[in-house]
Amino acid sequence: MSADRAATHRITVDVEVDGRRRREEVPANTVLLDLLRDRMGNTGVKASCERGVCGACTTLIDGVPTASCSVFAFSVDGCSVETVAGQTEADEPGPVQRAFAECGGFQCGYCTPGMVMLTTALLREHPEPTEEQVREWISSNICRCTGYRMIIDSVHRAAELIREEA
Ligand code: FES
Ligand code: FES
Repeated sequence: MSADRAATHRITVDVEVDGRRRREEVPANTVLLDLLRDRMGNTGVKASCERGVCGACTTLIDGVPTASCSVFAFSVDGCSVETVAGQTEADEPGPVQRAFAECGGFQCGYCTPGMVMLTTALLREHPEPTEEQVREWISSNICRCTGYRMIIDSVHRAAELIREEA
């Protein structure tokens, strides 16, 4: 399909976002990031490099951390997408968010939604991650502010909070 045709041809995407079923009609060349932010008002998902490099736009697609700027909306049809907006519990920050606040895992906060989603996926797979595992997982996401130490501490603290609350 030519770029012009992809921009005018519309498709319907049926997707579950943070547990809520959504159906949207969008141009065929729409990426998931724009579907979430522009069509669904989910501005917690951050747009930064928009080239799949920085990880600020990370969401979980069927549980897998994915740069939402690098995935066409049509490819998530029938999938479950989790974003930072779904990490709150009864309007209160969830354990990963609380851990980042407690350990100062953010400064400008631009990378934080992506880091929170990455941490969520990491702790599902490794509830008690080693320092090496944390470093390896977060290496896909760029933070320009913290020097990463406080982010690493936040991940370990989130693991503790989740275990305490289990
Ligand atoms: S905005 Fe998607 S990876 Fe940077
Ligand atoms: S806190 Fe600013 S980019 Fe990470």
